[in-house]
Amino acid sequence: MKTQVLIIDFGSQVTKLIARRIRETGIYCEIIPFNQLNIDVVKKKKPKCFIFSGGPASVNDKSAPSLDKFVYELGLPILGICYGFQLICKDFGGIVETTAIREFGRANIEIKKKCELTQSYFKSGNNYQVWMSHSDSVVKLPVNFEVFAKSENAKISIAGNKKKKIYGLQFHPEVIHTHKGKDIINNFCFKISECSKDWNMKSYKKEALENIKKIVGDNNVICALSGGVDSSVTAVLIHKAIGNKLRCIFVDTGLMRKNEPQFIKKIFLKHFKIDLEVIRASKVFLKKLKDVSNPEKKRKIIGNLFIKIFENSSKKYLNTKFLAQGTLYPDVIESISSFGDSKVTIKSHHNVGGLPEKMNLELIEPLRNLFKDEVRELGLELKIPSKFINRHPFPGPGLAIRILGKITKRKIKILQEADNIFIEELKKNNLYDKIWQAFCVLLPVKTVGVMGDNRTYEQICILRAVTSLDGMTAEAYSFEPKFLSSCSEKIINNVSGINRVCYDYTSKPPGTIEYE
Ligand code: XMP
Repeated sequence: MKTQVLIIDFGSQVTKLIARRIRETGIYCEIIPFNQLNIDVVKKKKPKCFIFSGGPASVNDKSAPSLDKFVYELGLPILGICYGFQLICKDFGGIVETTAIREFGRANIEIKKKCELTQSYFKSGNNYQVWMSHSDSVVKLPVNFEVFAKSENAKISIAGNKKKKIYGLQFHPEVIHTHKGKDIINNFCFKISECSKDWNMKSYKKEALENIKKIVGDNNVICALSGGVDSSVTAVLIHKAIGNKLRCIFVDTGLMRKNEPQFIKKIFLKHFKIDLEVIRASKVFLKKLKDVSNPEKKRKIIGNLFIKIFENSSKKYLNTKFLAQGTLYPDVIESISSFGDSKVTIKSHHNVGGLPEKMNLELIEPLRNLFKDEVRELGLELKIPSKFINRHPFPGPGLAIRILGKITKRKIKILQEADNIFIEELKKNNLYDKIWQAFCVLLPVKTVGVMGDNRTYEQICILRAVTSLDGMTAEAYSFEPKFLSSCSEKIINNVSGINRVCYDYTSKPPGTIEYE
């Protein structure tokens, strides 16, 4: 896939949203950290334009992220967002200052002058809502740059040099609170940079199949199946490309949802006609996780054990050179911390961050450029039934990151039962498909209750249900109180070990979807 838009990341937490908005318009784009941009990358990727993201630094800091000036000499259009805009101004001789009035959250901008960035969608003199998040402001533009819009606080909000096709925005067009933000991105990509629509799942599938065949050659591949959508789509895609040269291995970690191993085996054999080797490894996982409470430790242990088991299994198959994984784009970005302190790794996703440094198998990850909803689209393109495709995501480390504190066999059983009741209730009430992800979490805290004539002292179960487009941001689902109380009743009456059920209203950010 040809990269038409190259997004240069300066560490903003919403850089991924820029990529999403661009792909939604049908254009393939990629994100690279600012310190990886060099002439070789440009020659290789041949982008038609650049977008400089926002970032937490101030351009006037001594150690502020910056770019080699060659990027301005390429003659390609550039759109700078917030920090990216301030950097452009500084690099061309403008002045950026930390002013007394900071702008955070919703603000209005007034269009002062027409430009290609706002063409067709904005009218001069009118006000539009945008999302601001900055302390620094451009106080003096470089020579040959003009102001196209100002904010209520009289700050320069849209500016640029038409001749050079270099533009900057003080606000974030990628965030939904910016009305018409998508139109600005559209104008930049199509009108200014002359990108063409090339991104759809049909073309991605065709190219992915050819690539897989080319990379694999006469070798064999083993696929790490978790039973979730990502690894299943990976397996079906690779199977379509290389047939029986793919071996699928499903490790029953003992940390799956209730009845999951049986379900996965059945669907793979019967529906996809893909043979599956099930490795029963729950004992070894439990042993390694014994007395471990630290979330990152749990993730690393599970990641390492997975790989070890796969390596051992692969020895059985001669010529196995590759290990296929369903790693997605957000996993890749969230796990790479190329910014030192300015961008922190939130969690090590087990299929990226938890990999041991020395691995005897080469990785093949055909989904690593895709967002979750794009994977679902690809799955439908591969004729995987929508009922399977629309299953809620399930994390690689499984219930280990939903049992807070130490993991025991009994706690796993308790959580599996409670989770099963919650999910069945969602399905019965036609709520399952309205929710991105729902599950139960077991707290390592006991509370007092009363059941019949007896005092109980048992654990708390949290119900979590969120709506989301791709797992990067999420909102808690608003259930009818009646539904929640009925779930609570059913769980407490049927699962021995839980005597209190709570519902979690936290969105992401500030929370994450999983608890660990
Ligand atoms: P968080 O908790 O980071 O989760 O808000 C975002 C999405 O990613 C899933 N998740 C994982 N998936 N391996 C996976 O395959 C992992 O280690 C992992 N951790 C989180 C999570 O379930 C949610 O859908």
